[in-house]
Amino acid sequence: MDILEIRSPDDFHVHLRQGPGLAAYAARSAEHFGRFLAMPNVVPPLVSGSGVADYGRAVRSAIAASGRASTALLSFKLVPGMGRDAVLSCAAAGAAAGKYYPAGATTNSADGVPDPGSVSAELSAMEEAGVPLSIHGEDPLAPVLEREGAFLPVVDRILAAHPRLRVVLEHLSTAEAVEAVRAWPERVAATITSHHLSFTVDDVLGERLDPTYFCKPILKTSKDRAALLEAAVSGSPRFFFGSDSAPHPPAAKASGAAGSYAAPVAMSLLAAAFEEAGALDRLEGFVSERGARFYGLALNAGRLALERRPWTVPELIDGSRPLAAGRTLSWSAARA
Ligand code: DOR
Ligand code: ZN
Repeated sequence: MDILEIRSPDDFHVHLRQGPGLAAYAARSAEHFGRFLAMPNVVPPLVSGSGVADYGRAVRSAIAASGRASTALLSFKLVPGMGRDAVLSCAAAGAAAGKYYPAGATTNSADGVPDPGSVSAELSAMEEAGVPLSIHGEDPLAPVLEREGAFLPVVDRILAAHPRLRVVLEHLSTAEAVEAVRAWPERVAATITSHHLSFTVDDVLGERLDPTYFCKPILKTSKDRAALLEAAVSGSPRFFFGSDSAPHPPAAKASGAAGSYAAPVAMSLLAAAFEEAGALDRLEGFVSERGARFYGLALNAGRLALERRPWTVPELIDGSRPLAAGRTLSWSAARA
């Protein structure tokens, strides 16, 4: 099969940033995705209805300027003390999810959540309003390779305290987390990125240190990658796509910023990973159907064509070094 046409995909986890980068990053996502959920860890963070609404206007005008027809979904950031009214105003402003960043776990998360008890009123408000909780599942105090595993008991506590809360554990990186998601009730789902399906810690550290592949949670072993791929191709409604595309300018990457610019290559990487697993026919379910169903959204109407046409990923795209820069990928993507 040299051309694979699928329903226009969704990206349920993307960092579009703010300021001068936003226009290019939003346009790049709109080039490949019919819909994408923008993360709230901008500066200042999205913690109010008016903040969410203003950011939504900026993202939508960037999409309109790109000439693409894509829908932006928005999120807000949970911070201790924001209060139930702020949560409800974010929901009223159209936020599709509220994001839980453990304090200090990743980029712009110093003001995040030290302990789920510190946001229990806010989580209850989300539960009532039916707004899913999106979680960065890492305990920043644990050793770096064990951070995801160390956070799983915190998810257990959140689920026990909020029996109707719908939860998305973001960017799974370990076999252990895949098993945990399978064991939790159906109100829990998870996103998997194209980089965790394609690369391992050896791409970051194995030969020369390559910050392009440095992200949180850090890429793990080939055994973890195999478990993630197995989950992604399994057809289970619990696993769907979120790119965690997280561009940083080269100077920030050089000084150690975590985050990989995935949007320009995500669909190419996914096609290669699904092909490797002998499951190209399952790609559409993973990237165009299951996330929409979890979030209760209609499926996208447009189409995306994937073509077996090798291309070499440029060193710089939109001012950031993309994932897989300099590598030749076997699949190209274009929205019809
Ligand atoms: O590597 C990451 N970068 N992981 C995250 O969770 C956040 C992201 C960012 O915003 O740069
Ligand atoms: Zn992220």
